[in-house]
Amino acid sequence: MRGDPPALNRRAVLAAPLGLVACDRFASARVAAGPDAPPLKSLADFPIGATGMTGQLADPVWVAAMLRHVDQITPEWELKPERILRPGFDYDFSASDRMVDWGHEQGLRVFGHTLVWYSQGLDLFTDALPTARFAAEFDRYVATVAGRYRGRMVGWDVVNEAVAEDGDGLRDCVYARKLGPEAYIVRAFEQARAADPDAVLFLNDYNLENNPRKGATFLKLVERLLAQGAPIGGVGTQSHLDIEIPAGQIRDFFRDAGSLGLPIHVSELDFPMERDGGRRPDLRSTAAKRAQQVARVGELAEAFMTLPEHQRYAFTTWGLRDPDSWLVRAEGKNRPDESALLLDAEGRPNPAYQAVADAFAR
Ligand code: GLA
Repeated sequence: MRGDPPALNRRAVLAAPLGLVACDRFASARVAAGPDAPPLKSLADFPIGATGMTGQLADPVWVAAMLRHVDQITPEWELKPERILRPGFDYDFSASDRMVDWGHEQGLRVFGHTLVWYSQGLDLFTDALPTARFAAEFDRYVATVAGRYRGRMVGWDVVNEAVAEDGDGLRDCVYARKLGPEAYIVRAFEQARAADPDAVLFLNDYNLENNPRKGATFLKLVERLLAQGAPIGGVGTQSHLDIEIPAGQIRDFFRDAGSLGLPIHVSELDFPMERDGGRRPDLRSTAAKRAQQVARVGELAEAFMTLPEHQRYAFTTWGLRDPDSWLVRAEGKNRPDESALLLDAEGRPNPAYQAVADAFAR
């Protein structure tokens, strides 16, 4: 793996600062204090990733934290159709170029997110557009964006969130209606493969661990797409975790996903403490909820480690430190002190950090 730090004695590095009781995972459910967390990337022999945005590039504290902790950056917005696609099927690469250039200048791997997403591009890709034009513009978009960064991206989320919200079949969207419910996905992968033959191409989705029905639908879809010849090189599980799901559910998803034999990307990990942004009454103490976070995040990291080495593609959090999280930015989704990521605002380890470190050290 490029940019690996020298080998570290993981157990020694991780010992004292957190003041944790090693044999009792729930004992780690305390507010973190003390020095900077040891670099996340020193814990793993696979890439550790986080998202970044153009607005953060001028923040020296954020830059230092990224370079300390991660090997890989996923631009959070800049490679999405809503940022690139302009009226008249014109393209604007100013922000995406900046992110990709910055990542390379810093020696980071750059991961692309995302070429096709049901919720974006809808001003132009409409049901009313004649199908031949729709198809031509669809192909041109995927080929142009993937081709612009040919050889510079380690991978791409080619299609994001293709499975229906509740896991019952595929999502109804304009791309499916115009090009065929699976054909649009195959087509996107083929265009991306031709445009950038070396990037690993991912189908990415969410709630795969949270909703076993959706996880199963997703994996069956991958099998069918592969059978149709789609050049899928890996599967992405966003892992916006619902920390209240039963123990074992995450492990079971990884067992099933691993059986496909493809690399797996934990692509957008976070773990909000509040369900539904706190709109559901929950009388438990913060400590109890933290314990629940630590347990589920630990289960996820352990499940990832049960994969054979060649299937551990990367482990990416959606934001690096708590205040970087979309959950904090999106009003009401999570409070900054609820530790939805591995690092707090000062770059110190949140409680779940130790669970991940322990799992990676095994
Ligand atoms: C989804 C998308 C991401 C991001 C997050 C949260 O998971 O894949 O690009 O938008 O939602 O905002």
